[in-house]
Amino acid sequence: MIVKREFGSVYGKPVYEYVLSNKNQMNVGILTYGATLRTLNVPGKDGRLTDVICGYDDIKSYVEGDGYQGAVVGRYANRIAKGRFTLDGEEYSLFINNGVNSLHGGEYGLNTKLFAVCENDKNNSIVMTAVLEDMEEGYPGRMMVEVTYTLTDDNALKINYRAKSDKKTIINLTNHSYFNLSGYASGSVLYHTLRLDADSYIPTDDTLIPTGEIKSVDGTPFDFRTEKRIGQDFYSEDNDLKIAGGYDHCLNFIGGETEEPVLRAELKDAKSGRVMKVYTDQPCVQLYTANFMNNSAYPFKGGFAQHTQNAVCLETQHMPDSINHDGFTNVVLDAGEEYNYTTVFAFELM
Ligand code: GLA
Repeated sequence: MIVKREFGSVYGKPVYEYVLSNKNQMNVGILTYGATLRTLNVPGKDGRLTDVICGYDDIKSYVEGDGYQGAVVGRYANRIAKGRFTLDGEEYSLFINNGVNSLHGGEYGLNTKLFAVCENDKNNSIVMTAVLEDMEEGYPGRMMVEVTYTLTDDNALKINYRAKSDKKTIINLTNHSYFNLSGYASGSVLYHTLRLDADSYIPTDDTLIPTGEIKSVDGTPFDFRTEKRIGQDFYSEDNDLKIAGGYDHCLNFIGGETEEPVLRAELKDAKSGRVMKVYTDQPCVQLYTANFMNNSAYPFKGGFAQHTQNAVCLETQHMPDSINHDGFTNVVLDAGEEYNYTTVFAFELM
């Protein structure tokens, strides 16, 4: 079932929230602003629904607050060094919004766009579209972006990302939700366990730009191949963790991208009994333990204060700054070529 309601306004236009619910009463709220996942109410072992993502009660916080809460980010999710890249001999420079680098599509990335929505009641899905103009934020190519959210009756939220550009460009799209399976207002996420199907990761410099190295997870805190508590190695003496103030790294899935979404990550919370399985066809995931989530000016839903490490992001994507490193994943999209990836967040009980 899909219910639409108004959620304030931006740019003098109304913002809407679409609430999709399934036969188990699980429901998700999605804003037309940034195609943002605002609420994700999932049943726990106590039979009660709890909202397992961070987010705000008002549109103003989405516009002014940082952290890209629940938003779809792009046209290039993650960082591009000094906001510069070269494509076919042409140099491009992007808006610098993160120290010396460009982050998540620049000043007005996809997370700030008002998406148009087409409802599909039969599939319990909404198709959201936005246009990024040629040279907007410095990127070449007028790009059509289409994000489809589907809520299934087996408690899975499926997100399909499609895009096409009229000129050769670069692209990296993801959703920036912050998960805590006990509920966003329940405290540290370091007690959750995580398994990740990743055998290497990307170390960064102190501006969080890849050094260029692709490093094996063997013997490092980045080895989640066997499930462990997120907190297990969180405070260990590791230079890469220190630089980022926690996990804020791209981990590379074994074998790279796949034809169809496959199971790549499992997040578990013994307290609530909730398990979140992540299926994707993307080659990597940015594991981010909300190391910057401490903006006291923008409390979360119900007035709950922000706090670092109270949630975790699993941003399925391509490698950061790929275009500036040999041997990184291909993020170039040709004119007229279709970009098409899917990530599924599937919920179960332990
Ligand atoms: C991404 C980055 C983080 C941080 C957040 C937004 O996940 O990797 O470093 O910038 O976005 O706060």
